[in-house]
Amino acid sequence: MVLQTKFATIKGNDLYIDGVKATDLASQYGTPLYVMSEGHIRQQMNELKTKFLDKYENALPLFASKSFSCLAIYKLASEYGIGIDCVSAGEISIALKAGFDPDKIYFHGNNKLPSEIEYALSHDVTHFVIDNFYEIELCEKIAGELGKKVKATVRVVPGIKAGGHNFIMTGHKDTKFGFSSHYGIYLKAIAKILNSENIEYEGLHAHIGSQVFDLYAYISAMNKFMGFVDEIYENFGVVTSKVNAGGGYGIAYNKNDEPLDFEVITSEIMKVIYGHYDEKGWAHPAVMIEPGRYVVGNAGITLYTVGAIKEIPDVRTYVSVDGGMADNIRTALYDADYDGIVANKAGETKTKNVRVAGKCCESGDIVVKDVNVTANIMPGDIFAVFTTGAYNYTMSSNYNQLPKPAVVFTYEGKTKCVIRRQTFDDLVAYDVTEDYK
Ligand SMILES: Cc1ncc(COP(=O)(O)O)c(C=O)c1O
Repeated sequence: MVLQTKFATIKGNDLYIDGVKATDLASQYGTPLYVMSEGHIRQQMNELKTKFLDKYENALPLFASKSFSCLAIYKLASEYGIGIDCVSAGEISIALKAGFDPDKIYFHGNNKLPSEIEYALSHDVTHFVIDNFYEIELCEKIAGELGKKVKATVRVVPGIKAGGHNFIMTGHKDTKFGFSSHYGIYLKAIAKILNSENIEYEGLHAHIGSQVFDLYAYISAMNKFMGFVDEIYENFGVVTSKVNAGGGYGIAYNKNDEPLDFEVITSEIMKVIYGHYDEKGWAHPAVMIEPGRYVVGNAGITLYTVGAIKEIPDVRTYVSVDGGMADNIRTALYDADYDGIVANKAGETKTKNVRVAGKCCESGDIVVKDVNVTANIMPGDIFAVFTTGAYNYTMSSNYNQLPKPAVVFTYEGKTKCVIRRQTFDDLVAYDVTEDYK
């Protein structure tokens, strides 16, 4: 077992997060509970600021807010001067409610709806990562009607396979995202944008996948993109003034994961881009990155209460907890590996191998596939699962009508609830009792 953030510590038999005892959090707020270490988030955002935003001229790190989206996180991102990547009008609406600067919001997505394009533009969100030809037509029309200009970064698929699971690879040929770099398809998109009245071409966007540990994948993607930059110059005489190098920086979910250093990834990316532009004698472009899980993943620890424990002779022991795939779908979806600990028996020797299962009515409802815990585990214990800060709360559902857990931030010994727990009333809040008309 490894504690993947320095903000989680074990003292005696207890797990502490930002100096707050996990069992106190469980009794105060109930379980399941998403605990987010604000200490960890601030550390990561500060890294984005000091090692990227402040280090390079005209550089902007974006937080990929699909990984964790709520008012509190947008306020924190704002405080550090970093931008955000949003993939829906819903995410944009929350960011704007949090007071986020619309000029630092980049609107992504492979099927932006006409209503979403209209919403974004009418709220001065004009930076779009353009994904497809239909979107170009929609942007041209809607921006024209609203008297706005879309600033386009064009997402191009470099044809590189990287990422922790097939579902989170996005840089290979067979993907729903972006314009193919084959057969000159992306050049046709850029030609359309250059000829358009209401869309300005700014640059290119790359995102090769998520949970990437391969530095070479980032370097070779950037080398490919410099080739695209040259092709654009050769075809249209236009120097690309913005390069978004994407996110996907792998983090440690368990002891086998070996994350790359942030500064190593970003300095290698910058070396390729600046090196190429210097060689051509062009001014450096604006450069962006957009990590999500790197910022919030290790900040999250989900606390559950242990219920039924079932020993199946010659097979395994199942420890069931009071949440499951409704609050963490990633094990079922991506076969993700998690690690955890009995938070109130954290100092005890871990001699018993168990599978931690959820309470949902699915065999695939597994939270931690395989973990060593104290042999003394029993109903009522608090089980803590690490690295649940990214794509857990934002992918949560009400499957089996489980109310969504609260989200609590911890910081320097204090706690604050940033999203309250759903109630049974919330479960019917959208039900309408109406007769057929
Ligand atoms: C376009 C884009 N950028 C950034 C990200 C963030 O990825 P990660 O959270 O792995 O850094 C994603 C993830 O899906 C993405 O699709």
